[in-house]
Amino acid sequence: MSDPGNEFAALMSQLDYAMLIVTAADTREQSGCLVGFTSQVSIDPPRFLVCLSVKNQTHRVAQNTDTLIVHLVGVEDEPLARLFGGETGDEVDKFAQVSWREGPGGAPVLTDLENWFAGQTLARVPLGDHVGYLLAPVEAHAGQRQAPITFQQVKSIDPGHPA
Ligand SMILES: Cc1cc2nc3c(=O)[nH]c(=O)nc-3n(C[C@H](O)[C@H](O)[C@H](O)COP(=O)(O)O)c2cc1C
Repeated sequence: MSDPGNEFAALMSQLDYAMLIVTAADTREQSGCLVGFTSQVSIDPPRFLVCLSVKNQTHRVAQNTDTLIVHLVGVEDEPLARLFGGETGDEVDKFAQVSWREGPGGAPVLTDLENWFAGQTLARVPLGDHVGYLLAPVEAHAGQRQAPITFQQVKSIDPGHPA
């Protein structure tokens, strides 16, 4: 079989999907990053999968807590997408640059993003260089509907931690 590597990457780069910002806190630190690998994976019961790179600070923190906050990101929230996707909490305090409050499970809620849910981690599934966090929503806030910012609009951002 030929190596599908480059062709596969070319196919994946044509897809489009909503980008989200996922945050978490443990007893020592709080973290958050821009995430594209996500999906609702069950309707009843409601379940959502968020995939975090093993290199990211957010994954490190998410291993130590059962609560993740999943924020929808609108097209007008591009500066937040750039901050959370282009910088790593290993080098930069992202939360010093945004407004936030403590939310469910002590995790930071970004107050400029009014569409979000808190998920309880039911399982952590190793998937390769990402870990899948299977979430059950425990609290959800639906504010004004917005057009989501998508992968095609932000794929030029240089990730804070290269995959
Ligand atoms: C277009 C795009 C998609 C991304 N998708 C994911 C993803 O699905 N999962 C993930 O963990 N990181 C993803 N990242 C990378 C993180 O957002 C980035 O490395 C971030 O700086 C990590 O921050 P942290 O180390 O503070 O957690 C993506 C970045 C970009 C620009």
